[in-house]
Amino acid sequence: MSYLKNVLSICGLFLLFFVASSSSVFAFSFSPPPDEKTGAPGEGTCADCHVGNALNVSGGSLIVTIPETYEPNEVYTIIVDLSRAGQSKWGFEMTALDANKVRAGSFAADGAANTQLTETNSKQYIQHTTAGTATGTNDAHSWEFEWTAPDADIGPITFYVAGNAANGDGSFTGDYIYTEQAESTPPVPTVAGVSLEIVGDTTHATMNAVAGVNYTLKVTNTGNMMDTITLEASAEVGIEGSVLGALSDRSVELEAGAGAEVTLKVAGDLFTAPGDYDITVTATSETDKTMAAEVTTTTTIEASPPPPPPTPWDVNGDGTVNIQDLVLTASELGQSGEALTGDINGDGAVNILDLVLVSSHFGEDTKAVQ
Ligand code: HEC
Repeated sequence: MSYLKNVLSICGLFLLFFVASSSSVFAFSFSPPPDEKTGAPGEGTCADCHVGNALNVSGGSLIVTIPETYEPNEVYTIIVDLSRAGQSKWGFEMTALDANKVRAGSFAADGAANTQLTETNSKQYIQHTTAGTATGTNDAHSWEFEWTAPDADIGPITFYVAGNAANGDGSFTGDYIYTEQAESTPPVPTVAGVSLEIVGDTTHATMNAVAGVNYTLKVTNTGNMMDTITLEASAEVGIEGSVLGALSDRSVELEAGAGAEVTLKVAGDLFTAPGDYDITVTATSETDKTMAAEVTTTTTIEASPPPPPPTPWDVNGDGTVNIQDLVLTASELGQSGEALTGDINGDGAVNILDLVLVSSHFGEDTKAVQ
């Protein structure tokens, strides 16, 4: 079997020699080279025929310049740089494929006829022309042409290229084959995102609706780019009283992934009725208003304890009505005006009537009354 194989491959080589040497006679030439030799998956390389030197042997280089990212329908300049000291004739072939090995975008041959286009198995190839081999150009050569990106984001695109740094002897020997590939990706789409949370308890109670309660909120930009996030506080519709939610910031500018703390003050006015008051805070991305997050705080306004029953006759407020209270009242006797502790009946003046009131409660325990 192995003998037969050798015979066959030797026959193949002879055939190759024959075709090569008779190319001038039959006007059949391997310049341009056959398609599907770029080294792409499932393809061969120029080294299938250009034998004698190992593929990608050191001493030469093949460099491709492609767009790192592509925008649909955008036109890009592609450069193929091939070099190897001592060589003097040059060739290349390139194709661009998506992840499914399907043709991606379109090459355009350069105006100077150094490159040409071919198609095989629905794949497009660009390669050197006879003029494009730049025969006699020593040590290095490059080709420049355009490529138009596909009309949509089709994911990463790989450019496969093979180059032949040849010696110009008109045969496939003494040549150096290099392969290279480079990937172009679609730009990462920007995504907006917001998260909002209450730091600590989501509920608080207070008896002082005017002073209110402060909540700390943490707003985070969960998107992948800089964003401005707007904040809004809204009270439950129809809630009794007039409890309001006030935010320390109405908008915050945040880097991707960054967060900031914002204070929500829930406070009411003097007439706020006791009860539970829900204030909802909504954080919305300015870039994408469909991206929003919300939290709700519940503030309980507790009823103040009823004021102690008035016992103005306990003038010094020590819990019992005795001679001291009488003395205090007497000390203000004859005075008139507001805020007189001795004005027991509240008529604006301290007189005998007030002394009578204190006396009538003499000995009472005012603590017990409360
Ligand atoms: C099927 C075999 C075969 C493949 C594959 C092949 N070549 Fe060739 N190539 C030849 C033969 C035969 C010659 C010599 C005859 C000629 O110049 O046409 C040649 C010659 C050349 C020459 C001129 C060499 C010199 O020293 O004068 C260049 C340049 C070249 N090929 C480039 C390429 C490139 C680039 C590839 C890969 C994309 C490639 N070839 C793939 C068979 C092949």
